[in-house]
Amino acid sequence: MTRVAVVGATGAVGRTMLTLLRERSFPAYEIVPFASERSRGTQVDGRAVVVLDDSAELDGFDIALFSAGAATSREWASRFVDHGATVIDNSSAFRRDPSVPLVVSDVNPHALRHHYGLIANPNCSTMQLMVALGPIQAAAGLERLIVATYQSVSGTGHKAVDELDAQAHASLNGMEMPAPEVYPAHIAFNVIGAAGNFAEGDDHTDEERKMMFETRKILEDESIGISVTCVRVPVRVGHSIAVNFQTREPLTADQARELLADAPGIELGHVPDPLSAEGRDEVFVGRIRRDESHPQALNMWVVSDNLRKGAATNAVQIAELLVADREQSPVG
Ligand code: A2P
Repeated sequence: MTRVAVVGATGAVGRTMLTLLRERSFPAYEIVPFASERSRGTQVDGRAVVVLDDSAELDGFDIALFSAGAATSREWASRFVDHGATVIDNSSAFRRDPSVPLVVSDVNPHALRHHYGLIANPNCSTMQLMVALGPIQAAAGLERLIVATYQSVSGTGHKAVDELDAQAHASLNGMEMPAPEVYPAHIAFNVIGAAGNFAEGDDHTDEERKMMFETRKILEDESIGISVTCVRVPVRVGHSIAVNFQTREPLTADQARELLADAPGIELGHVPDPLSAEGRDEVFVGRIRRDESHPQALNMWVVSDNLRKGAATNAVQIAELLVADREQSPVG
């Protein structure tokens, strides 16, 4: 049996992690939720929140699931590792570190074989795209991707969901929408054509850079060409992605459909939508069709619950793989 810490347990992803540990009957004898000083005295999923500060007891955890932002991960993840835990981190803090595996449970679980106590969970949009493209890369190789994301506000955290709700409520009641705080423009009844932030001098956002870097790391192929536009849409939960992919070997739309029908974690649909995907762990793929402008390119539409497979589900699946591996390994 395992003892698990959930750091960021009061957040959008952290709460989903607690739900999933319960739903999947994760073999933990204790689950301890950690959050910031702001959550002192509160409960989450029926458990008292522990404030993560210098007085917090970090001993005795086997696994720590982190989803409290990159700054918290940078400050606290190595401390949990030093106290003996394996950290599965949902932030971007360690994804680029070559010594930290970046793992999608259905695509590259073999990367878990070598780790030093830290494992990174990919960015939410990248995650669902990898579940859909991993089998294609394995069967036919990927030459080039052209991606447009339609990302929900919960990917930014619970404050962004509140911002969408407050703006929508005001607008529907004939009032002036409150000024945007989380996003650079109003998100209700609008579309923001750049999801993420621009680093000084970069014409791509950090969300776009994450997808470019993480795709190549997970698929273990630095030569894949990737062109990405990340967009924020007024959807509470569920990211959608339009992807045009060019394969190295010939692949028909029927062959792609057959491959994905048999692949783990995927459900094929006609035109999947985020509202229907909410609360589900699968990645929904539809609209697989030939790109008539290129002999070796196909299009598809990929939808998933960003809080589930895009974040919490994958983190818990990694934890399950670690537990299974420990049970198989000889003691001593
Ligand atoms: P809190 O609710 O106490 O602020 P979201 O991504 O939905 O915004 O949630 C962020 C999560 O990360 C919350 O659980 C939040 O706790 C937690 N968090 C943020 N900063 C810290 C910190 N310095 N130490 C521990 N938890 C933190």
